Amino acid sequence: MVDLNFKYKSLIEFLKSETPFKPELSIILGSGLGDFAEQLQIHKSISTSDIPGYPVSTVVGHKGKIHFAEYENKKLILFQGRVHFYEGYNINECIIPVFISHKLGVKNLLLTNAAGGINKNFTPGDLMLATSLNGILIKKELTDLIGLTNLAGKDNFINLPDPEFNNLIKTTAKSENINLKQGVYWFTKGPTYETPAEIKFFAKYGADAVGMSTVHEAVYSSYLGMKTAAISCITNFASGISDQKLSHSEVTETADRVKNIFARLVKAIIKAV
Ligand code: HPA
Repeated sequence: MVDLNFKYKSLIEFLKSETPFKPELSIILGSGLGDFAEQLQIHKSISTSDIPGYPVSTVVGHKGKIHFAEYENKKLILFQGRVHFYEGYNINECIIPVFISHKLGVKNLLLTNAAGGINKNFTPGDLMLATSLNGILIKKELTDLIGLTNLAGKDNFINLPDPEFNNLIKTTAKSENINLKQGVYWFTKGPTYETPAEIKFFAKYGADAVGMSTVHEAVYSSYLGMKTAAISCITNFASGISDQKLSHSEVTETADRVKNIFARLVKAIIKAV
């Protein structure tokens, strides 16, 4: 277990001195929402490479930036450019945006990502609200993160996803006329996409979508007491669900194709929070 307050002391001090306001909502931007912040009134953008101790992302299309922005009088912090577990980072580096959000006083955290569709009713381009998240494949790392003995004064039952936040998102999607699917997001470590046999296994145990992020962030966020929800952009059929070969370019192309509708949904959520 790592003491994050100690490990990230100078990082937090730096950000607290740079923060233009106390953000109320934090959004972690996945593929497809990469340039979302540009649609908002940006007060300040900081490159993560200028932040002492901030891990560096190596994935194409993941720009490392933290934006302090405003939309409809809501003060926001947005994280552009995730670092993923499959890039070789420790879990305590992967959850840094969640830790920062909490330290800056954020109450609500919205996670977004790209995911492969397992549910046969999903097609690439769909948006899916997570009704639950399966972190069984990252449970050991989550235990390492939180620590076996770190529950003093804390409730170890997490409210994930937050039911009120999810209801607000569902109502918002309806009023925006956006067909928001719902389902269970299942984490895999990557870096390779899954085999058809793995997807069959996940499907059997209730997975509707699969991806390589989000669950550890969501569990940690919820553990810290933030209201947490997650929305996936279904960018491709998961392995074996269709005959088509998977590719990272299909993921980025689909994410790009639906980015306007995804952005419209997220803006409406910001307004409604
Ligand atoms: N599998 C895992 N992660 C993903 C996928 C997938 O099919 N699509 C986008 N991220």
